[in-house]
Amino acid sequence: MPYNLENKTMIITGANSGIGKAASLQLAKLGATVIMACRSSERGAQAVDDVCSQVKNAQVELIQVDMASQASIRQFAEAFHSRHTRLDVLIHNAANFDHKLKKPSLTVDGVETIFATNHVGVFLMTHLLLDRLKASAPSRIITVASKGLITYPFLDIEFDNLNGERKFSTQHAYYHSKLAQVMFTYYLAEKLKGTGVTANCVRVTNVAIPDERLTHLPMWLLKIYHLKRSMSITPERQADTYVYLAADPAVQKVTGGYWDENNQQVRSSGNSYNRETWEKLWRESEKLAGIAI
Ligand SMILES: NC(=O)c1ccc[n+]([C@@H]2O[C@H](COP(=O)([O-])OP(=O)(O)OC[C@H]3O[C@@H](n4cnc5c(N)ncnc54)[C@H](OP(=O)(O)O)[C@@H]3O)[C@@H](O)[C@H]2O)c1
Repeated sequence: MPYNLENKTMIITGANSGIGKAASLQLAKLGATVIMACRSSERGAQAVDDVCSQVKNAQVELIQVDMASQASIRQFAEAFHSRHTRLDVLIHNAANFDHKLKKPSLTVDGVETIFATNHVGVFLMTHLLLDRLKASAPSRIITVASKGLITYPFLDIEFDNLNGERKFSTQHAYYHSKLAQVMFTYYLAEKLKGTGVTANCVRVTNVAIPDERLTHLPMWLLKIYHLKRSMSITPERQADTYVYLAADPAVQKVTGGYWDENNQQVRSSGNSYNRETWEKLWRESEKLAGIAI
């Protein structure tokens, strides 16, 4: 992909592994200044070193953030603002899919951890960086959902179960949070019309996760992951879509889309297009994040 991304500043969360790391490398190769936003300073520093060892004069930087902590997200935004004057692309790649959670666990902010990490944190970070994105327009926001949502065709936002108080499993909470990402993106795109800031969501397909990321899994689940891996694409291949949405001039003005790994727009579930749910989710997210946007 022959994009020239010099003078473009991009943030990608969850940049120390998988698709986020692959995308960081590709964006750095194209000349972008990449802020790798990682939960662990140690894993983040290792990932920055790995990128730098493969890209001459890479403009990459680590800023630590825990997407499950609103204080950490606020500190991240402050650190970013103090070091950078522009923001061209914000990629919300980080996500929690923690199989160890057998019951809802609340964050320090009192929000169920998976919903907090995969949705409320994304909502708050977007809010804190929005002025910078607008000032840098044309600019782009990219969120990340999952092709696995296809297996939940009737799932809807459960306003009486946002913290898993009625029913909980990692899988259910994860797909619920990813549906929230899809709806958030559609409504954000609508709200940002005329600002030069676009919002698009990637429907990530089955992507290989290496064994070192799966050490916590019981053997039966590990076997399922191994089986899935034989049918998966590489993180690098999926990262191509992030790069396409972050960089391709053809999509500079395209907003509110849901994109597969072939860079094609696809439909999401029927429920995901319900405007009333978008609005209600937005209001609830404002409350949970303690803000108004
Ligand atoms: N792999 C798939 O088949 C698949 C399918 C559908 C959707 N997706 C989506 O694709 C995206 C990337 O996933 P991946 O496959 O590349 O998996 P991955 O390698 O496990 O990457 C997830 C990243 O998110 C980070 N993260 C988790 N919780 C965080 C927190 N509280 N604060 C900050 N960072 C946090 C992880 O950091 P740590 O190292 O600290 O854990 C890691 O860097 C995710 O949004 C995922 O939901 C993946």
